[in-house]
Amino acid sequence: MKVAQPFKINLLQLKEYGIIVEIKEDVVHVTGLTNCMTGQLVNLGESARGVIVGFDSEYVLVLLVTNPRGIKPGDKAISSIEDFKIPVGDGFLGRRVNALAQPIDGGGHIKQSAHYPIFGRAPSVLERIPLAQVLETGTKVIDMMKPVGKGQRMLIIGDRMTGKTTICVDAILNQLGKNVVCVYCGIGKAEAALNRVIGTFDNGHIWDYGIVVAAKASDPMGQQYLTPYVAASIGEYFMREKRADVLVVFDDFTKHAWAWRQISLLLERAPGRDAYPGDIFYIHSQLVERACKLNNQKGGGSMTHLPIVETLQGDVAGYIPSNTISMTDGQIYTNTTLFGEGFKPAIDMGLSVSRIGNRVQWPAIRGMTKMLQLEFVRFKELERLTRIKAGVSADIEKRLRKGKILEELLKQDQNTPVPMEDQVIILFALQNGLLNDIEPAAVQSRLQNLIRQVRRNRPDLIQSLIEKKALTEDIKEGLHEQLVRFSDTAVQNQG
Ligand SMILES: Nc1ncnc2c1ncn2[C@@H]1O[C@H](COP(=O)(O)OP(=O)(O)OP(=O)(O)O)[C@@H](O)[C@H]1O
Ligand SMILES: [Mg+2]
Repeated sequence: MKVAQPFKINLLQLKEYGIIVEIKEDVVHVTGLTNCMTGQLVNLGESARGVIVGFDSEYVLVLLVTNPRGIKPGDKAISSIEDFKIPVGDGFLGRRVNALAQPIDGGGHIKQSAHYPIFGRAPSVLERIPLAQVLETGTKVIDMMKPVGKGQRMLIIGDRMTGKTTICVDAILNQLGKNVVCVYCGIGKAEAALNRVIGTFDNGHIWDYGIVVAAKASDPMGQQYLTPYVAASIGEYFMREKRADVLVVFDDFTKHAWAWRQISLLLERAPGRDAYPGDIFYIHSQLVERACKLNNQKGGGSMTHLPIVETLQGDVAGYIPSNTISMTDGQIYTNTTLFGEGFKPAIDMGLSVSRIGNRVQWPAIRGMTKMLQLEFVRFKELERLTRIKAGVSADIEKRLRKGKILEELLKQDQNTPVPMEDQVIILFALQNGLLNDIEPAAVQSRLQNLIRQVRRNRPDLIQSLIEKKALTEDIKEGLHEQLVRFSDTAVQNQG
């Protein structure tokens, strides 16, 4: 007997038509869509686009992601019963796009290789493996003491104007020639601030491996809300299909939370703590969960997230700061006081943590930085205690001097990331007494001269350091020899 085949409907080809009933700023009420789900794209009127963000008893609530101009009640709304997907592909490298993955750099059409859902699913536990490699940020304090692993979520948190963006931009600059795809996601930034970042990227020649996804403060609220998802999806393409290591910077989550708060108020959802909607934790954790290190069956790629969050007067217990601290694997805390004192990058080592620990570090760095943080924190304490007292003992004087030298060593100008091998040379010089008995003000120039000398005389040493990542006997011997030679020339120059 012949069994009747079940009747199959290809939902992807189905379209549904509804009608716009009301437009409330960025939220459009639509009736007639009976088979839709949240996160789906809806075409409104002639050219407007929206994404479904909720339902009430009568309407589907659609958040506009384009300008509301040109749509009016009574217009048609068309939904195509599928997830909101954006084009992705290699063509995005070197480009600047908006929240719909459309170019905003005046360049031509971007060739796409695939479509990825913007609200993509985070990889499961089985698809992931523990982090084992370091993402070299080029910021000495971070690489030496709070290393970031490839696939980690490291929060950059601090007050306004404390160098948060600079730390992340430097991390992107430092990936030059390191085969890491970098996505900078600007959320609700002023045009001038965004242009400053792009100018730095131009100077740093990052466009072979960099992508900017941005919604400015003047762009529709819907776009500001969507940008981080789009940035994560573009990154996911490179991680999954190109097996690449990807770095995504979200600048910043505070503005993203503001955008979602504003949208939620328009949606008439009950405001909760600090007037944020109840699902703000979910919104951010869903994003950062997408960071991972994939196992070898899945290609072995990784995606590292650096979300930025702003604090008010150093209050890390605020709603968004405490949420984001709990959903990431560590935080770099920047501090106004340190910034004011001229310790830049103004990273507060006491409050910063990396929950991945130092296992991802180069063994060479790990071996020499064990006591560094403790020494620095003790020095800061001592400095605070002795500030008001004149005439401290010779021993204390000596310790203060040592601490100041360490402080000078950790300072770093903006947009000058320090390669890992240079950091090894710096630590080696510190450990072997090259910086004893010099003025703290001379530390930076002395180290620069040393690095220049080693790079000129022993490029082979640098190369083997990069390959081995550890201080083998050969490398140690070579570095010792260079230190001796450097001290001799320094003495001669003085004489
Ligand atoms: N390491 C540094 N050395 C010297 N200047 C720096 C350093 N880091 C940041 N700055 C300067 O400090 C200012 C603030 O930096 P940045 O924009 O990175 O801070 P932010 O915390 O991201 O600020 P915002 O809250 O406005 O986003 C900038 O003018 C920048 O040039
Ligand atoms: Mg900033």
